Amino acid sequence: MQTRLLPPGPENLELGRQFLLQDLPVAFPTETVYGLGADARSGQGVRAVFEAKGRPADNPLIVHLADPGQIGECAEWTPLGRTLARALMPGPVTLVLRKKPTVSPAVTAGLDTVGLRVPDHPVAHAFLQCCGFPVAAPSANTSSRPSPTTAEAVLEDLRGRIPLILDGGPCRVGIESSVIDVTGDRPVILRPGRVTAEDLAAFAEAETYELRPGESPRSPGLKYRHYAPACEAVLVRPERRELLEEAVRQAMQEGKRVGVLARPGFYAGEAPLFSLGQTVDDMARLLFFSLRAAEKESDLLFVEAPEDSGFGRAVLNRMRKACGGREL
Ligand code: TXA
Ligand code: MG
Repeated sequence: MQTRLLPPGPENLELGRQFLLQDLPVAFPTETVYGLGADARSGQGVRAVFEAKGRPADNPLIVHLADPGQIGECAEWTPLGRTLARALMPGPVTLVLRKKPTVSPAVTAGLDTVGLRVPDHPVAHAFLQCCGFPVAAPSANTSSRPSPTTAEAVLEDLRGRIPLILDGGPCRVGIESSVIDVTGDRPVILRPGRVTAEDLAAFAEAETYELRPGESPRSPGLKYRHYAPACEAVLVRPERRELLEEAVRQAMQEGKRVGVLARPGFYAGEAPLFSLGQTVDDMARLLFFSLRAAEKESDLLFVEAPEDSGFGRAVLNRMRKACGGREL
């Protein structure tokens, strides 16, 4: 199959809608990362997305809508859900509610809940509005790879597997939405993201879900390997920074091609630096982009960790997984 990368003009949004109606997956930009869409009403369309990504069948997809007003067609509102939807949508957040039968069980992998998201991105909004139906979409990467934050990254993973990528340029947030269970009285953060526990404090005290060993996870995605670059990666906490130069030197002596993903100032040695910008927001925006750039010319990457607070917690969560738990 030929994969076309096209600008998001009205005729190409319509072309995307036609592909979805034929059960062919279409990639589109959001403010977090690129998504790989299917018509959420079509079991066959949804299965085609799982197949293109190589995604385990028990990991549910998020349903994307143009407007929060459409949530009632897909799920049962709760008072907490309404409050948070009013405050945070559109935005980089996914709310988990009890699903209605309109959502195909293929989307939710048999769960009785569904994740709902209203992206805050002009192209995502225009595409969802053009479609008019709910669009189920995971991140548009091959399963276990870093999420794509540019159209070129989608092409790298899915060339020949999907007919169309709508190119909306680089994503503003750069890591995936906060997934928040709002079925009860208190929000439970299942996946940290740009919307933090501190942001939720204005509405309700949030709980952050931690997966305990031996327990089956409340969010199936938690049990899979994620964001893995093609080379080895090691996390460097700020308090371990003084060990970095020696570790780089040693690895280079062993003949390894070493790269450092960091904010300029964190590292000043010989290995090539892949910038993570200045602020925590920059780190999120550049993390997956820089991982994909660095893996092409490195055997080993050292990755600067942010402080473990606020939005830094979400960035650290992705870095830990990308490094497979390895730390300096
Ligand atoms: O920012 C994002 O959320 C991006 C863009 C494309 O919207 N999407 C995304 O989708 O990251 P995906 O499929 O890569 O990650 C969805 C995560 C998975 O970890 C999945 O297990 C969890 O959300 N999830 C989906 N539905 C759920 C549900 N009903 N209950 C608990 N977790 C759910
Ligand atoms: Mg994903």
